[in-house]
Amino acid sequence: MAECTTPIIVALDFHTPEMALDLAAELDPRLCRVKVGKELFTRGGPAMVDKLVARGFDVFLDLKFHDIPNTVAQAVTAAADLGVWMVNVHALGGPTMLAAAREAVDRASHHPQLIAVTILTSMGEADLQAVGLAPDPMVNVLRLARLAREKGLDGAVCSAREAATLRAELGEGFKLVTPGIRPAWAEKGDQTRIMTPAQARAAGSDYLVVGRPVTRAHDPLQALEAILAELAEGSV
Ligand code: C5P
Repeated sequence: MAECTTPIIVALDFHTPEMALDLAAELDPRLCRVKVGKELFTRGGPAMVDKLVARGFDVFLDLKFHDIPNTVAQAVTAAADLGVWMVNVHALGGPTMLAAAREAVDRASHHPQLIAVTILTSMGEADLQAVGLAPDPMVNVLRLARLAREKGLDGAVCSAREAATLRAELGEGFKLVTPGIRPAWAEKGDQTRIMTPAQARAAGSDYLVVGRPVTRAHDPLQALEAILAELAEGSV
């Protein structure tokens, strides 16, 4: 696998595996990693992940597992067997489930980064209260991120707005994976609470999930290179 040291994870949010693979062919696995989510995986399956891995990409399999501990452990083992670089589980699955996922990764043939999802950013106060959680998202995010760290997970997905608090509360070494990234030159689309790549890095994010600013660009590789150049300059 080509060594990849940059923080950019390109979200391959496409309806078909062909479209995703065509876009990936325009990228360089030394300059970015790629994220495969539920729609693409459901359509393209492990075969498509195999192809991305074979092309040298580090793959973040964003399936947000949430089930009983044994089932999540088996699912995480299957992801590890696929050779993915990162996999995630819902912290709301609880401490026993998180520990089972950790043990499964440790026992696997290959050890992907094991990342927690805390509270989906789509959940507002009313949603949180409806499922019996504290109405303040940050209270839940912090509690769940602490739990994930306690159970040995490698990090958490968080919004750029949450990154600085999580970094301050959880210390160095706990990886923060952040979507909602928009370079100053890119369209916001449906994202509202955004940060530029350099702002997110300055806030403590380790990995930046970038979708449309790269995938919908006229020249995706050039867009990726522009983001990396912006990061190298540190211009916020
Ligand atoms: O195209 P865009 O850069 O908005 O894509 C962001 C990616 O990150 C998408 O795959 C989206 O599902 C994901 N994501 C997000 N916000 C979250 C969690 C995940 O945008 N809170």
